[in-house]
Amino acid sequence: MIGSAKDRVEPMIKVALTGAQGRMGILVMQELSKQNDMKLVAGLDIIGENKPLLGDITVRHASRIGEILSQTDPDVLIDFTEPKAAINNVLCAVENNVNLVVGTTGFTQDQMMLMRNAIDGKVSAVISPNFSVGINVFWKLIALAADNLKDYDVEIIEAHHNQKKDAPSGTALAAVEILKKSLGDIEVKSGREGIRLRGKEIGMHAIRAGDIVGDHTVLFAGPGERLEIKHQAHSRTNFASGAIKAARWVVSARTGIYNMADVLGLK
Ligand SMILES: NC(=O)c1ccc[n+]([C@@H]2O[C@H](COP(=O)([O-])OP(=O)(O)OC[C@H]3O[C@@H](n4cnc5c(N)ncnc54)[C@H](O)[C@@H]3O)[C@@H](O)[C@H]2O)c1
Repeated sequence: MIGSAKDRVEPMIKVALTGAQGRMGILVMQELSKQNDMKLVAGLDIIGENKPLLGDITVRHASRIGEILSQTDPDVLIDFTEPKAAINNVLCAVENNVNLVVGTTGFTQDQMMLMRNAIDGKVSAVISPNFSVGINVFWKLIALAADNLKDYDVEIIEAHHNQKKDAPSGTALAAVEILKKSLGDIEVKSGREGIRLRGKEIGMHAIRAGDIVGDHTVLFAGPGERLEIKHQAHSRTNFASGAIKAARWVVSARTGIYNMADVLGLK
């Protein structure tokens, strides 16, 4: 007999998480626990081995990632770790045919290339330095401003908590790439000191203090006026819920590399 739609049980999306003991990992797990179409099948970290996570899942040591992904067969791996670890996690995920959501930031261009080449044509991946909806709209707004204010001076000011290791932030670097589409291959000057006139450049300023979650301002200044486009994250929850959205989206996406604008339909 054919069951009614109500009787049919949708398959659960099986999620693995690397960086499960980190600030973001813990929040992703909290968000995951609220989803009735997703379940955590593995949580990995290099600290807190055997600590309980969700249900009967405990922290497993990240050195065993290959074996754990092969045993638990997740649909998607969410990674919030640090660049070197993330590269290894991505390579293991691809080897095990596991789709990816990569939130880690601070990759060098070579690391990013290595990761993209490994993923390309094999699995689906969403890679984004910022999963918040607001920041993805912010990126659209700065593209609009740059297109219309090509002669204005541009400065980026970003602020984060004192534990953040990479600077400038991945979000600020993504803003630079967007600005370059309108302004050409313009130089980026991180901080300023000494005696020198401002050149044709984007000024970049990174503040690291206290527990600031994440502020980004792009300032366009011209004759007699300035425009500031600013985003302030009040909590990390929006990053975690964005990563969950990306995970749900990526499992049914065609093989390829995507960003949050694809997930949010902002393109
Ligand atoms: N994309 C976004 O929206 C977004 C938002 C916030 C933070 N981030 C980025 O996410 C990353 C993590 O941020 P955080 O604040 O959670 O940092 P964190 O330092 O609190 O957590 C990182 C966790 O990764 C673990 N780890 C290190 N090596 C590992 C490995 N090989 N395998 C598994 N786990 C490993 C650490 O032990 C730690 O628990 C950073 O790069 C940060 O910039 C991205």
